Amino acid sequence: MNQKIKDLLSQMTVEEKAEICSGASWWKTAAIDRLEIPEIMMSDGPHGLRTQPDDADHLGINESIKAICFPTASATACSWDRNLLNKMGEALGEEAQTEGVHILLGPGVNIKRSPLCGRNFEYFSEDPLLASELATEFVKGVQSLGVGTSLKHFAANNQEHRRLTVDAQIDERTLREIYLSAFEKVVKEAQPWTVMCAYNKVNGTHASEHKRLLTDILKEEWGHQGFVVSDWGAVNYRDKGIAAGLELEMPSSHGDGKKAIIDAVEAGNLSEDSLNRAAERVLKIVFKAIENETDYLNYNKDQHHKLAREIAADSMVLLKNKNQILPLSEKESFGVVGAFAKKPRFQGGGSSHINPYQIDKAYEEINKFIEGELPYAEGYSLESDQDDAKLIASAKELAEKVEKVIIFAGLPDRYESEGYDRDTLAIPPNQNRLIEEILEVNKNVVVVLSNGSPIIMPWLDKVKGVLEGYLAGQAGGGAVADILFGHVNPSGKLAETFPQKLSDNPSYLFFPGEKDTVEYREGIFVGYRYYDSKKVEPLFPFGYGLSYTDFEYSDLKLMKQEITDKETLNLRLKVKNTGEIYGKEVIQLYVSDPESTVIKPAKELKEFAKIELEPGQEKIVEFELDKRAFAYYNTEIDDWYVESGDYEILIGASSRDIRLVETVKVKSTVELPNQYTINTNIGDITANPEGQKYFNQLLSEYLKGSELMERLENRDDEMLEAMLKYMPLRSLAMFSEGVVSREEIEEMVDKLNKNL
Ligand code: BGC
Repeated sequence: MNQKIKDLLSQMTVEEKAEICSGASWWKTAAIDRLEIPEIMMSDGPHGLRTQPDDADHLGINESIKAICFPTASATACSWDRNLLNKMGEALGEEAQTEGVHILLGPGVNIKRSPLCGRNFEYFSEDPLLASELATEFVKGVQSLGVGTSLKHFAANNQEHRRLTVDAQIDERTLREIYLSAFEKVVKEAQPWTVMCAYNKVNGTHASEHKRLLTDILKEEWGHQGFVVSDWGAVNYRDKGIAAGLELEMPSSHGDGKKAIIDAVEAGNLSEDSLNRAAERVLKIVFKAIENETDYLNYNKDQHHKLAREIAADSMVLLKNKNQILPLSEKESFGVVGAFAKKPRFQGGGSSHINPYQIDKAYEEINKFIEGELPYAEGYSLESDQDDAKLIASAKELAEKVEKVIIFAGLPDRYESEGYDRDTLAIPPNQNRLIEEILEVNKNVVVVLSNGSPIIMPWLDKVKGVLEGYLAGQAGGGAVADILFGHVNPSGKLAETFPQKLSDNPSYLFFPGEKDTVEYREGIFVGYRYYDSKKVEPLFPFGYGLSYTDFEYSDLKLMKQEITDKETLNLRLKVKNTGEIYGKEVIQLYVSDPESTVIKPAKELKEFAKIELEPGQEKIVEFELDKRAFAYYNTEIDDWYVESGDYEILIGASSRDIRLVETVKVKSTVELPNQYTINTNIGDITANPEGQKYFNQLLSEYLKGSELMERLENRDDEMLEAMLKYMPLRSLAMFSEGVVSREEIEEMVDKLNKNL
């Protein structure tokens, strides 16, 4: 422990230590003047600063200072671009330094279990590897500026419905492989200064009092050095939280939390050591934040706005482009329809709501690229779901006069927000109706979407183009214009599956649960892990996105054909831009284990890269895979385990567009403990050659001369062999008509446990 903090702790009273572990206000930690311990300030997060000097709240209701609103995580995830997330983090770090913010409350890495979660717009992906890789870079970016982050919401906060009381029931393997995995890498590689515990319960225990999550896994197993802060109001019993590893309660509980800690220490229900450990962790970060303060007085707003535009453009996903309807040329005749073109939806509701410096409207940005006045019709009202005959009529009138129509559609604010979930994947009916009506008079329709999470598109077959803009931040309007005209070649790929219908989603039957319980019964089969394994055709698959150019994949080469689980596998391939224009491509690496003895998804994302290529240019892409790329979480040994066997390395342009395949043999160096009992099935013993050999030896020893032995020795008796496979050892007594006794079977079990 740093000497200064050690000295401070030794001088602090129990009361002062309890105070340091309790927020002083909405956004600040407690200062202790007597010991010159300063306060520090936090702000939401994640995609911009919501700094509130006064009248604070955690729902984005009261005004915050002006800030840059970057695209939200559901958009930035589609960039699949680590560098871009790092740059965005740096920009936010600069802004935080300027505004005197010490900790930015983000990023959010909760997995998109259901497309209905109202807060999916703030989260990255349905895939833990993609979420954690991007969040790692974001955290590194922010923290490189001497500003902390808060990785949230730990853990299993995958719905807004009853979010403060719901109990997420998740089996261990699923928790590890899907829900914790999204946090694990970020903690290990980027050391976020803080981790924010979730509101909900996990397997019966409030996340804010979950010792196994907050201490055993987060601190001891993953080595988190910072502190855990409660989500705003997540504390249940404060003393239990301290004991479990929740160091800081936020916001202030006006003395309640502090009193609970002091009472518990005095009553001997909470050890002073636990309190010391908590206070020490908070103090370390408080002083780190103060030491890292810079005298940064300003950040360049125009530059950050420009960056927000670049990020938005590199994140948008071109979903459809029939007959190359896009890019538009400046000279073509086209018109714009849809209220979103002038009243953009570029961020979500709730605690992440930013008060932006500037808002670019797509209509104006598109107009800047052409001469004259761009024709526009509102088409629908954002305030209501009802058709407006007049608005539709004037939009149709416009559509009749132009060659192409760009329709802006999507989810209005009231459709998705923090605090509640959606109950449909549909966009408002008046928008669907407008699109259908326009299609009656003009077939050259491009739909530009603003939404935080997947929607269904009943008109998809009839329109020629679809650009998924997500919630693209304050500069999103300009980014849309850049893509429509081809000034930026689209390179985003979906970080989540768009299902054809809600009931296709694997969590459908169990979301959002019954009363205060939600069971994650689909287990590890989240997102494409399910759609691919179950062979359900999605509307658009995970990893999908079009470009204005084409890429050719070739020459996949594994540097080794065989490795052990202690070695890494290096591999490379070539990617060539075969089109006429510059572009960026996201190359995805999935691993499949075709002969696994445990249940596994058809394939899982294990690596990815984004590269840029001039027309005709070819580049070599290299990947390195370690044990985790082949492992599953084995609950018998409570560890990641690789089963020996052949694994397929699949290189794809999306999860459903696999271009190259090679096979590698991986050998496990870990012996799984054998635990034989009288109930072990014979097939489980004979599954490997060694077991088969030893078991045969035992059989000839114990069954010598018996009729059963004779039958067994007759190799052609396939039926008998098949039956034996699922016969527990104890059944040998009956099956051998008493030739082997129960006592002898127990002896066999002992021998198996000793010798195998
Ligand atoms: C949200 C957090 C947020 C906090 C502070 C909570 O309601 O869940 O994500 O950081 O409020 O605004």
